Amino acid sequence: MSPRLPATAALVTGAASGLGAAITERFLAEGASVLALDRDTSAIAPREGLVTYEADVRDGAALADAVAMCEARFGGLDVLVPNAGIWDYQRRLTHLSAAELSDAFDEIMRINVLGYLLAAQAAAAALQASRGAIVMTLSNASFYAAGGGALYTASKFAARGLVIQLAHEFAPRVRVNGVAIGGVRTGLSGPATLGLDDRSLADSFDRRGPGPNPYIPLHDSPTDPQAFTSPYVMLAAREESAMITGSIIRADGGISARGFYSAAQGDQQ
Ligand SMILES: NC(=O)c1ccc[n+]([C@@H]2O[C@H](COP(=O)([O-])OP(=O)(O)OC[C@H]3O[C@@H](n4cnc5c(N)ncnc54)[C@H](O)[C@@H]3O)[C@@H](O)[C@H]2O)c1
Repeated sequence: MSPRLPATAALVTGAASGLGAAITERFLAEGASVLALDRDTSAIAPREGLVTYEADVRDGAALADAVAMCEARFGGLDVLVPNAGIWDYQRRLTHLSAAELSDAFDEIMRINVLGYLLAAQAAAAALQASRGAIVMTLSNASFYAAGGGALYTASKFAARGLVIQLAHEFAPRVRVNGVAIGGVRTGLSGPATLGLDDRSLADSFDRRGPGPNPYIPLHDSPTDPQAFTSPYVMLAAREESAMITGSIIRADGGISARGFYSAAQGDQQ
């Protein structure tokens, strides 16, 4: 099969681990060049077509610099994938003090929402010039309860709002879509303000042990982030989705089919 993203320059945030790393690998395999941005890029192996950029997504100046680097190294920017995020480990609202709630709100919202806004703002002119696309990572928590606690769910509902608002603002030259993934074994960590920055979602998966997860109907796929990358390719490729903007593909292993995710089986604390 011929590559689906030839002559395409992409910027992926949160590219060092999990989904971002899988999207980066898939885009490279489909012929794209990728600027892989993360707060820690030490795990990313340099190779042909791949440039790394170490930055925090809460730093708008750094994101603007990363876009400028895409233009200098790749001749422009065609696709932005805002993806870097943290989880709240399903902390119940009433299990947080008011001070913890306030601090964790600032940290989660600034990474999960402001990080997407700053990336989109920094990339806007370059994407307008290339008639490019934004493909945001969303979540089952963008639609349903109990994919996180109140803070994470609020942040992922907000990101869902960004898809439709920016699809409106950036039309007609830039398409903006989302992929709502769910339940994949990654290093997804929590807020430092709650002492959860050393946690990894993979450990929660491992504690569950082998065997089917009754809350994820397609329970075989969630261990491999690569299984979630095809919708990103389709939404990035202009030839495949020229008339699609403001849309969200739910690649959540079937959590949508259940309509909700039962907190009873989660990692609620
Ligand atoms: N894993 C799941 O089950 C799941 C489900 C739904 C949605 N998501 C979403 O997928 C996205 C990717 O998460 P993942 O599961 O691959 O986790 P991950 O931890 O494996 O990858 C996230 C990456 O983002 C980076 N990052 C975090 N904060 C950052 C910051 N402030 N600045 C720069 N980089 C930062 C991390 O260093 C990490 O490399 C997140 O937006 C997450 O909310 C994950």
